Amino acid sequence: MRVLVTGAAGFLGRGAVRALVGSGAEVRGLVRRRTQLAIVRFDGGEPSLGDVADPTAVARTASGCDAILHLAAPSSANSRTVEGRREFVRSRAVGARNLVLAARTRGVPRVVIGSGYWLYGGHRGTITERTTSRNPNAVAYNLGAELAGRAAIAEGSLEVILARPGMVYGNGAWFLPFARAIQDGTYRYGERGLNHWSPISLVDCGRAFALLIRKGAAGETYLVVDDEPVRVRTLAEYVAQRLGAPPPRGVPFARVARELGSGIATALGANQAASNAKLRALGWKPKYPAYRDGLPPVLRELPLSGRSG
Ligand SMILES: NC(=O)c1ccc[n+]([C@@H]2O[C@H](COP(=O)([O-])OP(=O)(O)OC[C@H]3O[C@@H](n4cnc5c(N)ncnc54)[C@H](OP(=O)(O)O)[C@@H]3O)[C@@H](O)[C@H]2O)c1
Repeated sequence: MRVLVTGAAGFLGRGAVRALVGSGAEVRGLVRRRTQLAIVRFDGGEPSLGDVADPTAVARTASGCDAILHLAAPSSANSRTVEGRREFVRSRAVGARNLVLAARTRGVPRVVIGSGYWLYGGHRGTITERTTSRNPNAVAYNLGAELAGRAAIAEGSLEVILARPGMVYGNGAWFLPFARAIQDGTYRYGERGLNHWSPISLVDCGRAFALLIRKGAAGETYLVVDDEPVRVRTLAEYVAQRLGAPPPRGVPFARVARELGSGIATALGANQAASNAKLRALGWKPKYPAYRDGLPPVLRELPLSGRSG
């Protein structure tokens, strides 16, 4: 099986490429910078240079593939600016539309759209795939990518699957600055930090993508989270304890909103205890069922201050 992965040199992309290669798939990794070519090669994929917002490059790269996984998102755009939001729409929503079109014209039967679980917003109980989205615009660019997928599902000619990972931890993305801020004593959660997040290790997230590409049911949405939602405060204190740092403190929500913008602050402050029952029913079993299992090896390898190499 040959799979086109967009954003293949990014955080989630690398996890997906490694898992796919590990499961015996051939991976074509779409990247937009020459410096990213070597990353895909290092992870065992075949890199292809192109922009997901360019329909010609996408069609060319999709040719001969059996499935597509869309994980491209601009790594340094600031979603609080108009220009930054434009960048997100370009890479996520326009990219998703191009991929769906290329899948149709180049005969690629399956497309998995990577999204995120923030669009559920806060809920008291357990979030499942059937839970209503209370904050669909929380990370609006992911919704745009989903909408392109939903349009293709409604149209019916492709097998499209939506994947909504929770808080993916590993060496990169939000987790590295989170751990660094905890280590240097500057991390602050909102209020008392009693809301839940649903973590998932990057390794298991990649394995989930690999499974969804092969076995996900067409037209369905899957949450990609581990077995154990955790309160933000508990997670932050756990990391602090492992790093020998003082326990982080809470600050009023207004301060978090001032620093991160109200959209991101609201998403991070929401209670999001999500279930992986639907993914497990496909036969997926996390290698790291809880943060306590997956975080120690990740924390040992993070490039934190006071560590060489
Ligand atoms: N990280 C998490 O915990 C998490 C959890 C749930 C969902 N998600 C979602 O998953 C998606 C990917 O997140 P991530 O953390 O993996 O982001 P990331 O580390 O920034 O990786 C995204 C990759 O996509 C590339 N890219 C951006 N625009 C492109 C384009 N037009 N054409 C080709 N490649 C392009 C980026 O390259 P550049 O460096 O050139 O921009 C980057 O290499 C996002 O939609 C995010 O919301 C992430």
